[in-house]
Amino acid sequence: MTFTSIVPKIILWTLVCIGASVAHAQPRAGESTYVPERGQPGKDVMWIPTPQGLIEKMLDVAKVTSDDLLYDLGAGDGIIAITAAGRHGARAVGIEYNPQLAEFARRKVSDAGLGNKVRIITGDIFEQDFSAATVVTLYLYPHLNMKLRPTLLAMKPGTRVVSHAFTMGDWEPDETVSHQSAQAFFWVVPAQVEGQWTMNGLDGGPVRLNFRQSLQQIGGLATLNGATQPLVGARLRGEELTFKLTTLDGQLATFTGRVSARGISGTFSTPNANFPAEARRN
Ligand SMILES: C[S@@+](CC[C@H](N)C(=O)[O-])C[C@H]1O[C@@H](n2cnc3c(N)ncnc32)[C@H](O)[C@@H]1O
Repeated sequence: MTFTSIVPKIILWTLVCIGASVAHAQPRAGESTYVPERGQPGKDVMWIPTPQGLIEKMLDVAKVTSDDLLYDLGAGDGIIAITAAGRHGARAVGIEYNPQLAEFARRKVSDAGLGNKVRIITGDIFEQDFSAATVVTLYLYPHLNMKLRPTLLAMKPGTRVVSHAFTMGDWEPDETVSHQSAQAFFWVVPAQVEGQWTMNGLDGGPVRLNFRQSLQQIGGLATLNGATQPLVGARLRGEELTFKLTTLDGQLATFTGRVSARGISGTFSTPNANFPAEARRN
């Protein structure tokens, strides 16, 4: 091997070594130099953080408190979970697919001193169990919201869901909030009342209730002493149920109560009196 043939090899090897050491110097998961880039691709959706002003509106509309367990599906840098814990005292879990981003979020949680309240899971939102959540936040895509919708609707009635930017098809939001040009949509998972019930408590015998339901929209009929009437102003928000009917003596009675696994319980109020009332499914 001549000197002239070995020189290009040395140069090439030197370049390879420099390249390797530069590659090694790239930030890796867990190193404090890793900084995510807005718009970087994710598994099902890229990372773009929700603006802080909208996060506060989202947590306010959901009335997040220290009693809540919030899950942010696709947690990015953990900002929603951190804000829920830091400002509202909630426990929060972020699920993030990208391990580097998840590690970055964990570091932010630790920097904020919230390690006792916030957990960041590295995982797929379509595989992780978030059924324990009392509040779920999302900033995904419309088709991903629709894919999650059956799971969300099967959660405990009263669970609050807030989605930045995207709706849930024909599941109308209960409220909408905005910050500058950004919008978020809020839902409360409705209880299931569809079907026939018998309610006791009103004078004149049991009331037969027949509810129709589509998502949180309800209507129905009440039969009292053989006479059937439409329910007026029937409204369901999570487990909270209200409707009006006319009593046998011609008064308008307003029912307000809750739906639970045991049945419906609440109070009829008329201008003159209040009556506790309970209903069971037929
Ligand atoms: C638009 S960002 C929202 C980040 C954060 N929730 C927020 O509002 O600031 C969506 C995040 O979801 C993550 N992601 C995408 N597909 C995912 C999946 N299947 N499971 C978990 N995370 C996912 C992305 O990496 C990205 O960080």
